[in-house]
Amino acid sequence: MKSVNVRLGDRSYDILIGTGLLGQAGRLLKYCGFNDRLIIITNPVVQALYGNTLRERLSADGFRVTILTVADGEEQKSLDVAGRLYTQLGDCYAERTTPILALGGGVIGDLAGFVAATYMRGVPLVQIPTTLLAQVDSSIGGKVAVNHGKLKNEIGAFYQPVLVISDTATLKTLPANEFASGMAEVIKSAVIKDSDFFTIIENNRGKIKALDDTALEEVVFRSASIKASVVIQDEIDMSLRNILNFGHTAGHAIETVSDFGVEHGHAVAIGMMVAAKIAEKLGYFENGDLIRLKSILEGADLPLIMPELDTGKIIMAMKHDKKIAGGKVRFVLPKAIGEVFITDEVNMSLVEEVISG
Ligand SMILES: NC(=O)c1ccc[n+]([C@@H]2O[C@H](COP(=O)([O-])OP(=O)(O)OC[C@H]3O[C@@H](n4cnc5c(N)ncnc54)[C@H](O)[C@@H]3O)[C@@H](O)[C@H]2O)c1
Ligand SMILES: [Zn+2]
Repeated sequence: MKSVNVRLGDRSYDILIGTGLLGQAGRLLKYCGFNDRLIIITNPVVQALYGNTLRERLSADGFRVTILTVADGEEQKSLDVAGRLYTQLGDCYAERTTPILALGGGVIGDLAGFVAATYMRGVPLVQIPTTLLAQVDSSIGGKVAVNHGKLKNEIGAFYQPVLVISDTATLKTLPANEFASGMAEVIKSAVIKDSDFFTIIENNRGKIKALDDTALEEVVFRSASIKASVVIQDEIDMSLRNILNFGHTAGHAIETVSDFGVEHGHAVAIGMMVAAKIAEKLGYFENGDLIRLKSILEGADLPLIMPELDTGKIIMAMKHDKKIAGGKVRFVLPKAIGEVFITDEVNMSLVEEVISG
């Protein structure tokens, strides 16, 4: 087992990473001081794969476990579904000290996290992420949220979990496209902060693809460490945390213009290529590094080229993104593999030129 400590004063917590950790969940929860009731929030897919077994094991360890399920899908991240969960929590007499275990991908983590942050003004939250994206990204850093109308992830809070348990064995049942999507965030984290990690991914493509236990642990551990190090320095997203948006400026625009037909990880992969090409044209990023980025994304089965979308609409979507500063589009550009910088000064005609290829 590997662990990453997220040092945030009295909100500090550990991220535990390892193959088969779900089997040790009871011991780990007791170590955190829990010993009685637990609420698991999950969806039917993850419940069938892991939830029922987890409940049996935790019951055998002496816990009283209630499972609350929501349907699968992004549309469950809503105030309506949160409202239904509050009712169910009240009906089963969950108290302020009763922890909520978010067992699933980023959708469950964000929704259950939002419910944990708000039910009785906050109950303990344990993240048990089961997708690659959730293990390397969404379970870390305390952003919890639901969607509301056009406001995506904008009704929420910063609410840190008390523990994150990442069982890398759960990644073996992930559909291939979900694994590839998570790899986009893995590669992103290497480009923004860790060139050694980038090389490790390059050299271990086969093992990562084959879901080798040691390789998966290393990938999740390194990515989680990078995200944690950024969050520690900028818990509430005032400045540095922006670097986590590498690839997301064009990425978000592609998702929006395709009406979410292009999935997040794919859009981010294309967005990383857009940012890297801009940086190369501005003389910051070497062509050799651009080729390495292209090949590592290809190796992870991620797309590189912009889908057939209206360039004008993509530029417009970038300008309307909530992350723009003072009307200017903000880019995270690479200087080298392992180092990025944030700028509001990219000329939009250059962006258009890169996007239209
Ligand atoms: N809070 C944050 O900081 C943050 C960061 C990034 C993304 N997000 C959010 O995360 C969400 C996306 O998360 P996601 O990519 O994990 O999607 P997801 O939660 O929808 O999971 C993807 C699919 O995989 C299934 N699944 C989960 N674990 C599985 C397993 N082990 N085996 C087989 N199938 C499994 C799910 O049921 C679902 O169908 C979005 O809502 C996004 O806004 C949040
Ligand atoms: Zn992302």
